[in-house]
Amino acid sequence: MQNQTGKKPLRVKILPPNPENFKILAQAIQKGEVVGMPTETVYGLAGDCFNSLALARIFETKERPTFDPLIVHVGQAAQGAPMGPMGVEELERQGIIDSSRLGSNSRNLIDRLIQAFWPGPLTLIFPKNHRIPDLATSGLSTVAVRMPEHPLALALIAACQRPLAAPSANRFGRISPTSAQAVAEELGDRIDWILDGGSCDIGLESTILSVNPSNSLDVRILRAGGCPKERIEEVLGFGVMDPLANPSVTPEAPGMLESHYAPNKPFILLAQPLSKLSDSELSLVFSNLADKFFGDLTHSKSVIKGKDKLKVGLLLISGDPEVAISRISPLTETPVLARSLSRNNDLRESAHSLFSEMRWLDSSPASIILVEPCQVQEGLGYAIADRLRRASAGSRKYS
Ligand code: TXA
Ligand code: MG
Repeated sequence: MQNQTGKKPLRVKILPPNPENFKILAQAIQKGEVVGMPTETVYGLAGDCFNSLALARIFETKERPTFDPLIVHVGQAAQGAPMGPMGVEELERQGIIDSSRLGSNSRNLIDRLIQAFWPGPLTLIFPKNHRIPDLATSGLSTVAVRMPEHPLALALIAACQRPLAAPSANRFGRISPTSAQAVAEELGDRIDWILDGGSCDIGLESTILSVNPSNSLDVRILRAGGCPKERIEEVLGFGVMDPLANPSVTPEAPGMLESHYAPNKPFILLAQPLSKLSDSELSLVFSNLADKFFGDLTHSKSVIKGKDKLKVGLLLISGDPEVAISRISPLTETPVLARSLSRNNDLRESAHSLFSEMRWLDSSPASIILVEPCQVQEGLGYAIADRLRRASAGSRKYS
């Protein structure tokens, strides 16, 4: 297998799901190795959540700082295996959480959330069991847990007979992978196996929710994601706090850095969608862009030899990329490569294709990527807007 540049051979093998391969993967995980695992949100880099060596490998492979804790992925009962209904009691029995530190109201409410949303893209924060190594939780007294909805993730957890710690399978700070090939691009020189589960249905990470152990009315979203806040509030019957809307007031999840999910190229968030920019505003965007880009020595030295070489990648939240190009072409001489997250303005489709389209433009001949803002501030739109803001945080000097 070759990497993106087509030069360096990769050690990784992408395995199709079959009984023999599940055996290989389960044995590797039981020995403390780490493997690429599909989930319905994004691919994870999975290892035994009770094995400190495996956890250390996860951090090392991702180059992830150890202050950023992992999510523990739990499974369903394997056929014939003894397992109670999934809930607080079962998580305690598996040695993942410590329910003695959960008040009864919070415990009941968490059980309700589990009933409503698991398996699925909702991660819950619990008091941690002493059996979970501190490395998994970065020394916190809490542990993040979710049950993935992908049948292959559930089958892998069952085959290993243990819960699996798994962060997204990208190098730290980079775009999360939503296909086995994308995991190979990110980590193919560092891991042996990826289980191929095709492209991830949701395409955005899980929503992370914390319930205060002693006050069940204090429920907070720590990361917007695949499970929309509105659906959670429907199940709870009351509003949840959203520190993301006011980050200065309450800390978010420790790993939620301002700059995250970033392409290698400058990734510039437009102030307005194309449809709201007049022709003269749009021309100005392009001429400013060229000036700022070539004014930046890092890029003019390494990538581009002359102004005529600037190619711009354009990521549309919705609509037809050809229509966008035919509008832009008469306004600027800069060649544009446009992609759209959803031609029909379907948010589920936009979420599903967000990371793969970012990755596509990042490995295209474009030198710089412009992206429309996502103006829908509810449901999946909220999580898409969050990812775009963080992915563009390191490129603000260009906007
Ligand atoms: O959809 C997902 O959640 C994917 C798939 C693979 O399951 N996983 C994922 O993991 O996104 P990762 O490591 O990229 O993000 C985990 C986030 C981090 O931002 C981390 O700070 C937060 O979970 N987290 C983990 N443990 C926590 C805790 N005890 N309290 C608060 N936040 C926690
Ligand atoms: Mg991640």
